[in-house]
Amino acid sequence: MKIKNNNLLSVDKYIEEALYNKEFGYYMNKNPFGKNGDFITAPNISILFSEMIAIWIVSFWEHLKCPKKFNLIELGAGNGEMIKILIKTFNQFPKFKSACKVSILEKSNLLKKIQNKNIKDKNVKWLKNLNEINNLPSIFIANEFFDALPIKQFIKKKGKWYERYIKFTKLKKPEYVDLLFNMKQFEKQIKFNISHKQKFIEYSQSMINYFETITKKIKFSDGGILIIDYGYLNKKIKNTLQAVSNHKYTDVLDSFGKSDITYNLNFYMIKQMIKKFGSFNSITTTQKNFLTKLGILQRAEIISKNMPFTKKADIYFRIKRLINKSAMGNLFKVMLITNKNNKFQLGF
Ligand SMILES: C[S@@+](CC[C@H](N)C(=O)[O-])C[C@H]1O[C@@H](n2cnc3c(N)ncnc32)[C@H](O)[C@@H]1O
Repeated sequence: MKIKNNNLLSVDKYIEEALYNKEFGYYMNKNPFGKNGDFITAPNISILFSEMIAIWIVSFWEHLKCPKKFNLIELGAGNGEMIKILIKTFNQFPKFKSACKVSILEKSNLLKKIQNKNIKDKNVKWLKNLNEINNLPSIFIANEFFDALPIKQFIKKKGKWYERYIKFTKLKKPEYVDLLFNMKQFEKQIKFNISHKQKFIEYSQSMINYFETITKKIKFSDGGILIIDYGYLNKKIKNTLQAVSNHKYTDVLDSFGKSDITYNLNFYMIKQMIKKFGSFNSITTTQKNFLTKLGILQRAEIISKNMPFTKKADIYFRIKRLINKSAMGNLFKVMLITNKNNKFQLGF
């Protein structure tokens, strides 16, 4: 990798290289999911998570008046575990199944291969980009997708804004450097007054680009996007950048390309920022609330009824990870964005 400008990389460029560099990028070289990987995501904790999402999708489709054909698109499908269970669950709903065209947007070629092997369904298509999507109604699902996109960081010191960079030196480990930044000009460019009452900013241009394309699609062809991710609802943006390796937090500046780098989404800001793309309905709740309202505990009771104690205990242990306040239950939020006139609220 060649680094210009005095060995400096802005935080977003640093994340882009660390995660997605074709040669050594974290997501390009390894399968990070599960016990033997670096972290575990909800679909890999319990199949009941994906079953609940499947039921939610079928209900949303019904709310859209059961279109004869529609798109279901997963953004960033990891090891394909969620789509695999979704398709299996959809088999219980034949009318829905024949209407549903499943596709995946995935950046990593290695993960695409893993997804293909895991899902084993010839009808699933992989998209190169979202512009390939036709004009049918579309339901987008993004579980831990947006937190994997690069962000810029800005910090206000003594009334002045700085952008955060990472400086590489041959002798020492990389370090943060803050360089003076023209926030006014930036805000003009992004058409959003992001610095209002803030002292620290995290901003993902690629997230905004995705929202622009997706909201355009929703506006034109109907549908919605369901986002499930680490995040918070405060008006104030926080410094949430973190790295995870081998199921533990590590230093973002250590092990470049060897650990996952993520951040927490500010759902309040998302709600504000999508306003520039039109009038949309956006509702948010916690993962605990969402899964409980969809009946994850009742489903667990049904499937574990005749199971031996250890299997039953395992099912509930996994569900607790998903819904307990001290685990993922509160830390993860669920957001639905639809057209203004769409009043679907299941799970919220
Ligand atoms: C944290 S993982 C989540 C995977 C999966 N949704 C799950 O919950 O297990 C992020 C996924 O998004 C993919 N990804 C990241 N940036 C992407 C982009 N710009 N376009 C498509 N996929 C992307 C990664 O390769 C990975 O599959």
